Amino acid sequence: MRMTVFGTGYLGTTHAACMAELGHEVLGVDVDEAKIERLRAGEVPFYEPGLPEILRRQVEAGRVRFTTDYAEAAEFADLHFIGVGTPQRKGEFAADTSYVEDVVARLAPLLTADAVLVGKSTVPVGTAARLQEIADWHAPAGVHVEVAWNPEFLREGFAVADTLTPDRIVIGVREPGGPVEETVRGAYAPILDSDPCPVIVTDLATAELVKVSANAFLATKISFINAVSEVCEAAGADVTVLADAIGMDPRIGRRFLGAGLGFGGGCLPKDIRAFMARAGELGADQAMSFLREVDSINMRRRERMVDLATEACGGMLIGKTIAVLGAAFKPDSDDVRDSPALNVAGMLSLKGAQAVVYDPQALDNARALFPTLAYADSAIEACEGADVVLVATEWAEFLELDPAAVTAVARGRIMLDGRNCMPADDWRAAGWTYRALGRGVSAS
Ligand code: UDX
Repeated sequence: MRMTVFGTGYLGTTHAACMAELGHEVLGVDVDEAKIERLRAGEVPFYEPGLPEILRRQVEAGRVRFTTDYAEAAEFADLHFIGVGTPQRKGEFAADTSYVEDVVARLAPLLTADAVLVGKSTVPVGTAARLQEIADWHAPAGVHVEVAWNPEFLREGFAVADTLTPDRIVIGVREPGGPVEETVRGAYAPILDSDPCPVIVTDLATAELVKVSANAFLATKISFINAVSEVCEAAGADVTVLADAIGMDPRIGRRFLGAGLGFGGGCLPKDIRAFMARAGELGADQAMSFLREVDSINMRRRERMVDLATEACGGMLIGKTIAVLGAAFKPDSDDVRDSPALNVAGMLSLKGAQAVVYDPQALDNARALFPTLAYADSAIEACEGADVVLVATEWAEFLELDPAAVTAVARGRIMLDGRNCMPADDWRAAGWTYRALGRGVSAS
C-alpha cells in the first residue's frame, strides 16, 4: 500500500519507518525542513533503540521518503496517517489540537481523490468528529474524505517493538465493517497475517478515549504505589517488597508499580491534565477529579527527593555537591520533557547545591533545556567530589556502577536511590548509606 505519515516526532518517524519495514510505500511529511533533511539522510533525530537501523535500511531501499510538500503528499496516497503533537496549552490543562487541525485543513483542499485520514495522535475525545467537519468543509467538491482513529500505544525506548508487535490495534470509524475499516486494516495486514493481535473496531469517540484512559490508568497505578510509598516511609516499611507482594495478584500485576520519582515525559503528565480538562468541558469534571490527586502525588515525590537530599547533607544544601545520575524521564530515551530527574536537579540547584548531572543519552537535550546546571561526561566524573550520589533515572549503566570506583572519587558515602533500582547491599557493603524513596527503616 501507499501511505503518508504527517508528523516526524517519536510517533510519526517510528510509524513511517515501521510501515515501510512492513513493505508499504511511505511518505513522511513535516513542516520542519531541517528535520526532513536529516530523515532523508536516514538519520533519526532522537534516540530510539533499533529505529536508526530500520530507517536507514528503508531510506536506502526507497520505501520511505520525506517531504515538506503537502501537495506531493496529497498526490502520493489515499491513506494519510496523522501523528503530529498535541502539547499542553500554555497556562492551561487542555491539549492544543491546532497541529492536527492544521494538517487536515491544509491537506483536504489538495486532495484529488477520495481519501482516508487516520489520526494516531493522542487527542481529547471529540477531536476526530471535529476533524471530519474540517475535512468536509475543505475537501474539493466530489472528493470524499473520511476520518478514522487508530491510537498509538508505543512507549519510548520500545517504540519499534510496540509498533511491529502491538498488544492490540484499535480502529475507530463512523461505520464499522465498512471500506474505511478495511483500508486501515490493510496497513496492518502484514502484522495481522504473521503474528495476529486483537483488533478492536469501534466508534471514533471510544477509540480516542481508549488512549487517554490507558495513559490515565498507567499514571494512576504509578501514583497509587507512590502514595503507598509515602506511608511506607512514615511507617518504616518497604514499598518494593509490598509492590512485589500485591503485584503477584494477577488482578493487580507488578508492572507499573515501580515506586520512585514518578512519571514524566511527553505523554502521561500532559495526557492526564488534558483528560481532566476535556471531562470538565463535557460536564463530567467530577469523574476525573481524582487525576488531580494523581498529578500531585507524582509531583510530591520530586520534592520528597529534594528533602531526602537535604537531610543527607545535614539540613543545608548550600556548598554541597550532588551527583545526579540521569536526566532523561526514563531509561533508553533521550527525552527530557517533564523529566523528574532534571526537575530534581533544578530544585537542588535553586536551594544552593551544586548539582552535577550525567545521562548516557540525554545530555544535549538537558543542556538545551537547563543551560545553567553543571554537566559531566560520565557517571564517575559526575561523582567526583560529590557529597551525595542521587540516582534519578534507572539506566542500566548506573545499576552496574562499581561502588569501589565511585568511593575512590566521591567525597561523601550517601547513595539516594530515586528509582529503587540500585543493588543496595553492594553499596552498603562498600560502606555507603543507602536510602531510597518508599523504603523506611528496613532499607536504611
Ligand atoms: C507512555 C505509555 O506507556 C504509552 O503506552 C503511550 O503510548 C505513551 O505514554 P512513555 O511515556 O514512553 O509511554 O513511558 P512509560 O514507559 O509509560 O513511562 C512513563 C513514566 O512513568 C516514566 O517517567 C517512568 O519512569 C515512569 N514509571 C513507569 C514509573 O515511575 N514507575 C513505573 O512502574 C513505570
